[in-house]
Amino acid sequence: MTDSKIAALAARIPEDFDLGVATASWQIEGDSKGRGSSIWDDFAKVPGNIKDGSVADPACDHVNRVEGDLDILKDLGVDSYRFSVSWPRVMPGNNQPNPEGIGFYNRLIDGLLERGIKPVLTMYHWDMPSELQAIGGWLNKDIHKHFQNYANLLAENFADRVGMWATLNEPWVSAYLGYATKLHAPGLGNPAAGFEAGYRLMSAHGAAMSVLREHKANMPGIALNLTEVITEDERVRAQADHVDSLQNRFWLDLLAGRGVSEALIERTSQFTDWSFIDQAQLKDIAQPIDWLGINYYTPIRIAPASEGDQKAALGQDFSLYPGVPEGAQMASREPRTEMGWEIFPASLTETLKQTAERLPNIPLYLSENGAAFDDQLVDGEIHDQDRVDFYLGHLNAVMDAKDQGVDVRGYFAWSLMDNIEWAEGLEKRFGIYYVDPKNQARIPKDSAKMFKEICKRNK
Ligand code: NOJ
Repeated sequence: MTDSKIAALAARIPEDFDLGVATASWQIEGDSKGRGSSIWDDFAKVPGNIKDGSVADPACDHVNRVEGDLDILKDLGVDSYRFSVSWPRVMPGNNQPNPEGIGFYNRLIDGLLERGIKPVLTMYHWDMPSELQAIGGWLNKDIHKHFQNYANLLAENFADRVGMWATLNEPWVSAYLGYATKLHAPGLGNPAAGFEAGYRLMSAHGAAMSVLREHKANMPGIALNLTEVITEDERVRAQADHVDSLQNRFWLDLLAGRGVSEALIERTSQFTDWSFIDQAQLKDIAQPIDWLGINYYTPIRIAPASEGDQKAALGQDFSLYPGVPEGAQMASREPRTEMGWEIFPASLTETLKQTAERLPNIPLYLSENGAAFDDQLVDGEIHDQDRVDFYLGHLNAVMDAKDQGVDVRGYFAWSLMDNIEWAEGLEKRFGIYYVDPKNQARIPKDSAKMFKEICKRNK
């Protein structure tokens, strides 16, 4: 049954389509001794912040096991591997380069190239150096200059070999989970700070884009977490519009050179006057990118508050959208993943179509897509049929968008292996490889076998 579905899907994927897997530094690396401290180290030390008490070590002990992990990637047969650089590993907070840290990423990049895999580098996947947080982090008015120094170091060292660059990963999460609320590091819990952090993240993106262009880096871009905001009820149109504007349009408007919309400025006036906006920075932010990454997991549904208690998905909460008018609630439907996230592949097709309209003429990539399920290791195997179905459904949804004219060129499964799911800890498993916490063994789940088969048929 699954075999015929794999064959049918593989037949839809063009030969030059990029198939890859993704990870992020803090979630997999371990070896915190080999680097400076980050906001996630500080956050993880506070009891209760991370559900199972996970800290940076050992995670997947990836720094010490990089050769084996590279061999796994080779065996999977992926075209590309998306990883992130830990800022405090290459440039601990004192802004001095750390040769050992740079050496680690050189080994990783060279190891990928030796195996015929394209390195896709994310500069910022949430692990800001603690010392920079001490001066305000994404609220510091010069933070883009610090990011520019960091970008410069990365470009000088890696631009000759990296195939694609993402400046930021999901700046919405950094700003609204980390600054507006306390769900993620640094855990400020100040709604007004969310807007400013979001803007300053984008000004750092603009500054880094200039650096990457100066170094003639291949394919600079950014990865945003975009999704369709669905409502079937006119009465909550205003609420859905505000959520859509903070989740999706704010970032795309800035990239497209449309600035911050009047409607958003008005709706958030109780929190901020947006006086931190700088015209020169707006111009930098709007310089063309070579690709846009979309991290997609689940849609957002908005229902009237009067509809009785609906079930919201984990992490979907109006506190993440300061300024949303009263009268609505977040809702989601079955079926769900272990994160409580609704599984609805058609909304991925819609998200791609909508994004292509909002930011036209930019090649799109699914820079992340995947699911956590309650995997059971039985006799050395993990039959994760639910995840296999998730991937089949969503890859087909991507091909549906392609068939309808969207220029989507690649897909990265999240994640190569089980890792620290931020505040959810190690218990939420997103990997296509199972990681045994007892001995760090990597065990391919059925979803890895499926992904390998798709990669093989796509060669
Ligand atoms: C998005 C993030 O980029 C990644 O770090 C995270 O693990 C996945 N979503 C799953 O929540």
